[in-house]
Amino acid sequence: MNIILLGPPGAGKGTQASRLVDNRGMVQLSTGDMLRAAVKAQTPIGLKAKAVMEAGELVSDEIVSGIIGEALDGMAAETGVIFDGYPRTQAQAHSLDTILADRGRTLDHVIELDVDEDALVERITGRFTCASCGEGYHDMFKTTKVADTCDKCGGHEFKRRPDDNEETVRTRMAEYRAKTAPILPIYEARNIVSRVDGMADMDEVTVAISTILDGADA
Ligand code: AP5
Ligand code: MG
Repeated sequence: MNIILLGPPGAGKGTQASRLVDNRGMVQLSTGDMLRAAVKAQTPIGLKAKAVMEAGELVSDEIVSGIIGEALDGMAAETGVIFDGYPRTQAQAHSLDTILADRGRTLDHVIELDVDEDALVERITGRFTCASCGEGYHDMFKTTKVADTCDKCGGHEFKRRPDDNEETVRTRMAEYRAKTAPILPIYEARNIVSRVDGMADMDEVTVAISTILDGADA
């Protein structure tokens, strides 16, 4: 099964994708995570993407579709994929169709996380992750069980994203409204969109997504 998690910055795409990885053995393909890794490694793509990401704007369609295609090439055909943060434009949506068709894959579900944008700024500015394993946390909504210790790997170092400040978040949201939200009708026309209340508690969102996927499985 191949699915897209669609929603604005802070909607919970990464949080829910990582649960699907743990619970269903699917693979998460987050273009944001892949680009951040490229920036850290100072690859040619990373060098191009760094300033664009820090401004909260979109990296070029060619770059992101290229990295998605490459990531799929290294994967067994039966492995289910969660697209997190991709596609984000009409051009990327069309590229994904070709990328999947070329590899004999189909797109089974688009899950839209429906959220209140004003609450998202609070979510994003409170976000931090474990520097060792990447587990996500939040200052208010998901703290570590033991102070300064990752629940998952026991690591003691945490980090925050450079684009997680209020000004950049507003730009990222504007980009979402202008370029990403308009791709929904492509998938609505195929009857594969399900809307989930992304403002609900994290565990409730997980259950809602699971119910949809089980229905789609049947
Ligand atoms: P990307 O990394 O994809 O960022 P984003 O879309 O802005 O989304 P986020 O990762 O900020 O939010 P999320 O939905 O994953 O939320 P999370 O689960 O962490 O992209 C970053 C940049 O890379 C882009 O701006 C662009 O420059 C570039 N880029 C990436 N892909 C691209 C593409 N395809 N094309 C062009 N450019 C691209 O949750 C947020 C916080 O809220 C966490 O702290 C979490 O604990 C908490 N939380 C989650 N769910 C809940 C809940 N239900 N209740 C309470 N708190 C919650
Ligand atoms: Mg994310």
